[in-house]
Amino acid sequence: MLVTMKSILDEANKKNYGVMAMNSVNMEMIRAGITAANEEHAPLIIQIGPGQMGNLGHKEEIVPMIKELSDRAYVPIALNLDHCGDLEIIIDCIKHGFTNVMFDGSSLPYEENLEKTKLVCAFAHANGCSVEAELGHVGQASDDDDHNLDLYTDPEQAIEFVNETGVDALAVAIGTAHGNYPKGRTPKIDFERLQLLKESLNMPLVLHGGSGSGEENIKKAVKYGINKINVATDAFAVAKQSMLDALDKDSSLDYIHVCMAAEAGVKRFVRNYVRTTGSSNQYVFKEKSLVAGNE
Ligand code: 13P
Repeated sequence: MLVTMKSILDEANKKNYGVMAMNSVNMEMIRAGITAANEEHAPLIIQIGPGQMGNLGHKEEIVPMIKELSDRAYVPIALNLDHCGDLEIIIDCIKHGFTNVMFDGSSLPYEENLEKTKLVCAFAHANGCSVEAELGHVGQASDDDDHNLDLYTDPEQAIEFVNETGVDALAVAIGTAHGNYPKGRTPKIDFERLQLLKESLNMPLVLHGGSGSGEENIKKAVKYGINKINVATDAFAVAKQSMLDALDKDSSLDYIHVCMAAEAGVKRFVRNYVRTTGSSNQYVFKEKSLVAGNE
């Protein structure tokens, strides 16, 4: 079933586990993710950014599909608009049925980020949708932004930001960055800062730039308070590699079987990832109804 991201992440915060948020642009990826989550008894967040939506996953087409697939699943699924700074797009997506929006004002001056996040929260909350915002700035791995301490989230400022905006989840800059890191390097995460942020905010925290961060880092980040891990680059790479591998084995393979190979590859990837983040088996089924918490 399709639920707000807040309901999924509040539970994860309470029980101290992480939820995978996979950027997805088409039916194969979305179905692979939801099926994998269902089989793992884990919650999942499907997300899509404005650019990805413009290229391939048009909201008018993917929202009904995600609703249908989520209705067939026993586990909770959320649909998040990823990284959006455009208020018109945000309002449109809320009207189309997204259950969370991320307002990204992380490149704006602090006051402007705060005021716009507040506005988005007011509109979204009045319409039954939850909100993620970002403080500090998670940049690009290709620009070495993960090393740039000036971009990291300030824990003192974060308390004020959360109290004033009423945001439901906060993306924090603690040493990861988007995209592929240079070969052979995994990010150095500032776990002390993360611990401080968690202790003072006690709310769902989000790690952007999950790709290439390494299993050990992800597990430790969850232990210290991360509840949502964003994965885009690695998920797209798995889909592509699965197609290439299938064609490598048999170059006469038809289009249908190449797409099926991508779906199977992404499904394996998601099953493995949700186990790493600790969200596997967090939901149990009692007489067809879903009970949170694996009691
Ligand atoms: P990666 O592409 O590095 O996984 O980052 C994804 C992300 O943070 C989307 O918001």
